[in-house]
Amino acid sequence: MKKIAVLTSGGDSPGMNAAIRAVVRKGIYHDLEVYGIYHGFHGLVNGNIEKLELGSVGDIIHRGGTILRSARLPEFVNPEVQKEGLEQLHKHGIEGLVVIGGDGSYRGANALTNLGFPCVGVPGTIDNDISGTEFTIGFDTAINTVIDAIDKIRDTASSHDRTFVIEVMGRGAGDIALWSGLAGGAETILIPEEKETIDNIIDRLNRGKQRGKRHSIIVVAEGVMSGVKLAEQLKERIDADVRVSVLGHIQRGGSPSATDRFLASRLGARAVELLLEGKGGRAVGIVKNTIVDHAISEIINQPHKIDNEIIRLAKELSI
Ligand code: F6P
Repeated sequence: MKKIAVLTSGGDSPGMNAAIRAVVRKGIYHDLEVYGIYHGFHGLVNGNIEKLELGSVGDIIHRGGTILRSARLPEFVNPEVQKEGLEQLHKHGIEGLVVIGGDGSYRGANALTNLGFPCVGVPGTIDNDISGTEFTIGFDTAINTVIDAIDKIRDTASSHDRTFVIEVMGRGAGDIALWSGLAGGAETILIPEEKETIDNIIDRLNRGKQRGKRHSIIVVAEGVMSGVKLAEQLKERIDADVRVSVLGHIQRGGSPSATDRFLASRLGARAVELLLEGKGGRAVGIVKNTIVDHAISEIINQPHKIDNEIIRLAKELSI
């Protein structure tokens, strides 16, 4: 193998740049030419491909976002569109591809692998919702952003005796809500994987009030319901000053944490090794602090499982 390429796709995540840097530098270390594909699969289909040098990835390890830009291309499920992408790779003489992204990006990588083109997936998403890895690149930074917001909101919530609903990202996965809610000391954490009734939430708020608690933090994942809707439901049922804060895309930005930079560097480098070993169609991950890899085809068919022990602990600590 002489030429490989790297792309980022789907929602960006802090640490993607560190992963790109690792792919480029590891590739060049092994005498490969490394190409960057801009704007994800969209850029692949349109031939938006440029050679990257050591200097192309200088000064980016600490930057959020992705220097390769990102995009979502739902049309990539279409075999004709996949073939257009494949033609571009052949045209540039590229023999292996590293795809950094989430579930949708892995599906694209799997499709190309099925067409005989070796791809390796690197989990880059703040959602932490990829199976085969305990952590995805960007998750740690995102939960630290959320915790910072919770801490700040708690200050004003306690000054005004208010109940705050904080809506965080996570349409299908509750990891961001669960981890940041637990680490931020939220009284209630609502995640898509575990339904809670409004009665339960109100009971908990009332119990807290009886104990003299005058403010409260509720963290809700966007996949459960919107923070605004939850606040409306609460206002109808309880006598409390309820406010809402929707954290939105600030969760996707910012300088990556040390943990994310370290993870991204290890995963990006391993992806290149797999291509050099002739092992396409794999997805890298981290399990018990060891870098592992699995067939992408398996990963995309296994739904991510939330850690039930953490759910239990969060409940035990928020009585
Ligand atoms: O997958 C990452 C993510 O940030 C999700 O948490 C969120 O639901 C979604 O992307 C938002 O996507 P967009 O930036 O396209 O609105």
